[in-house]
Amino acid sequence: MTPIFFLFAFLLCTINSHVVARDFCVADLKGGVTSVGYPCKSPTNVTIDDFVFSNFKVGTSNQFNFSGAYAIVDNFPALNGLGFSIARAELEEGATIPLHAHVDADEVVIAGPGNYTTGFISSDNVVYIKTLTEGNIFVIPKGLLHFGFNAGKGKISTLYVLSSEKPSTQIVDLALFGSKLDSSIIQKTTFLDDAQIKKLKALFKGSG
Ligand SMILES: *[C@@H]1O[C@H](CO)[C@@H](O)[C@H](O)[C@H]1NC(C)=O
Ligand SMILES: *[C@@H]1O[C@H](CO)[C@@H](O)[C@H](O)[C@H]1NC(C)=O
Ligand SMILES: *[C@@H]1O[C@H](CO)[C@@H](O)[C@H](O)[C@H]1NC(C)=O
Repeated sequence: MTPIFFLFAFLLCTINSHVVARDFCVADLKGGVTSVGYPCKSPTNVTIDDFVFSNFKVGTSNQFNFSGAYAIVDNFPALNGLGFSIARAELEEGATIPLHAHVDADEVVIAGPGNYTTGFISSDNVVYIKTLTEGNIFVIPKGLLHFGFNAGKGKISTLYVLSSEKPSTQIVDLALFGSKLDSSIIQKTTFLDDAQIKKLKALFKGSG
């Protein structure tokens, strides 16, 4: 009696889970984002193309002299609900990814050929820094300030996986010198001198 009951219960669960299973929730971007993400596109309207991102190509260099490609839920709806996104950067010789933090995402760095120096600063101000090369993977814990730069000859390419489908990114230089924060307040709060602040505001297009 008992084994038959369990078998029956098992079958019921299996059938039931088959009925309620949802394998994916491709974002319906037209549905509008809410605090829990995008609504799911109707499965009957999902096609193979929803799972392929075709624009993972870097554009022209930005003001930091690196170029990036970003696959996040807003441009790759298949990532909806999966909790990760992917980025790629190409750094010319000498180029830098400036000090920044993702408060909502841990980061995995996958190094390519060449020498990529990267590091983070823990909340107790210990510096963890390493020059990576092909075959190296590095982890940057959520929320910590970090950076990277091309430490070798020629152009390099790096890959990143972040544990959020739409990670936030706060870049220190832009927060300070690309914003409207008044120069006198920047001076007061960072102890930098006015000439340096004005120079960086001109570079990063800040006002105030
Ligand atoms: C599927 O897509 C078509 C065309 O965009 C749309 O008219 C239709 O409402 C969609 N079906 C569902 C079930 O969302
Ligand atoms: C980017 O490169 C240009 C030309 O080499 C240089 O003038 C500029 O200062 C660089 N920007 C940064 C943020 O290093
Ligand atoms: C990377 O660093 C190693 C060790 O210093 C050096 O031998 C190599 O030439 C460097 N590679 C590039 C592309 O700069």
